[in-house]
Amino acid sequence: MNSIVVGLQWGDEGKGKIIDYLCQDKDIIVRFQGGNNAGHTVVVDNKKFVFHLIPSGILRDDKICAIGNGVVVDPKVLVEEITELKAKGVKISSGNLKISPFCHLIMPYHRVMDELKELKRSKKIGTTKRGIGPCYVDKVTRCGIRMIDFIDDETFTDKLRSNLEEKNETFNKVFGHDGLTFDDIYNEYAKLAQIIKPYVCDFVDFFEDCKDRSFLFEGAQGTFLDVDFGTYPFVTSSSVIAPNALLGAGLASVKIDEICGVAKAYTTRVGEGPFPTELDGKDAEYFRTIGGEFGATTGRPRRCGWLDLVLLKRAVKVNNITKLILTKLDILDDMDTIKVCTKYVNADGSEVRGFPADLGKISPVYTEFSGWHKPSKDALKFDDLAPEAQDYIAFIESFLGVRVGYVSVGEKREAVLEKFK
Ligand code: GDP
Ligand code: IMO
Ligand code: MG
Repeated sequence: MNSIVVGLQWGDEGKGKIIDYLCQDKDIIVRFQGGNNAGHTVVVDNKKFVFHLIPSGILRDDKICAIGNGVVVDPKVLVEEITELKAKGVKISSGNLKISPFCHLIMPYHRVMDELKELKRSKKIGTTKRGIGPCYVDKVTRCGIRMIDFIDDETFTDKLRSNLEEKNETFNKVFGHDGLTFDDIYNEYAKLAQIIKPYVCDFVDFFEDCKDRSFLFEGAQGTFLDVDFGTYPFVTSSSVIAPNALLGAGLASVKIDEICGVAKAYTTRVGEGPFPTELDGKDAEYFRTIGGEFGATTGRPRRCGWLDLVLLKRAVKVNNITKLILTKLDILDDMDTIKVCTKYVNADGSEVRGFPADLGKISPVYTEFSGWHKPSKDALKFDDLAPEAQDYIAFIESFLGVRVGYVSVGEKREAVLEKFK
């Protein structure tokens, strides 16, 4: 069975934890887009792992983890991540980690550009400043450095020199920035290339005969950060939705059996952009404190609000979701009343028809549910959840027209309740 797992909101839905759980019966776990803007958390035996580039399946010994061509790789971050994981006892070798030769590299000048552009913008995006956008720009403008270029010293030297010349000119003239030095970058990155080289592997050949293997495609970010279907321009620079999984992995021969959409039982967002059900003050603080809503990558406080079913319905359609996975239900445990957005209205009070072009111009209308005041963490199976919690989930299923397969009720690996497989 081959599965795609994507986020249905603005990222941080708990994909890492769910991927770690679902990959138990998979052979190969592939990241297909994004870069180290992602922070995917898995908690095992009270040890916390946050993955930025390496697929969340790496904690399980018998899996192959692959970084597909659609991912942008910061070699420095990759080597740090490998080193840190090895120090924590995780086995990583060229046998269980494969990196596509066609991944584009995030270089120091991409990080600087990300920062400078953000400073200059009148309307900030609130990027992670990891160089994601500028790297994808170079890929599409056809001057990017790919893994295959990086591991060939002559090509790397040429490409680095010409890129740096051009970037430095822009840094100097447009931003009044001194620019970066070839030798500094080359001396550091040539060493990184040697460390990464053994992991680089042509997927086309390696995964050629994959009919008897099962794949899990690990999405990063969330549907409303998608460069096409998200809240543009407050989005990331890649296609994060399910249809991009095969393209970003470069694996045309894999037949997809299910598309799993991960959603939090409420909503969060990091960075700028519209968020119809956003709460402020004490209400937001409640979610942030109980839910530990601080970015896994940048540590920024996440904006918090109620579950938005209008948004989720759109995400279900865009991704063709066949199974829902609801996370962080336990964060709602002590609430007296739980609200869910079930429609949008315009400024004049009329109902919004179709999906709005600008989520900043509409207001949410809520349906209320009574809370359950029972710790969901104590449930050993789905039926152990409070009847009110089960009603909340049944309402979500019926509104979205998709069944919930799993409910996550705690950060620990085992805190997952199966509703259907
Ligand atoms: P991702 O980017 O989608 O993988 O999500 P993040 O790792 O950025 O953020 C999710 C956070 O919620 C992490 O700190 C997880 O450990 C935590 N988490 C995941 N599922 C649950 C859950 O069901 N309950 C609780 N309390 N925490 C969860
Ligand atoms: P995971 O995979 C939450 C957000 C940033 C910013 C916007 C653009 O952990 O769910 P970028 O650096 O990508 O150019 O920033 O996208 N963003 C995320 N928000 N979770 C993520 O990843 C994110 N990756 C990017 O905060 O608003
Ligand atoms: Mg995250």
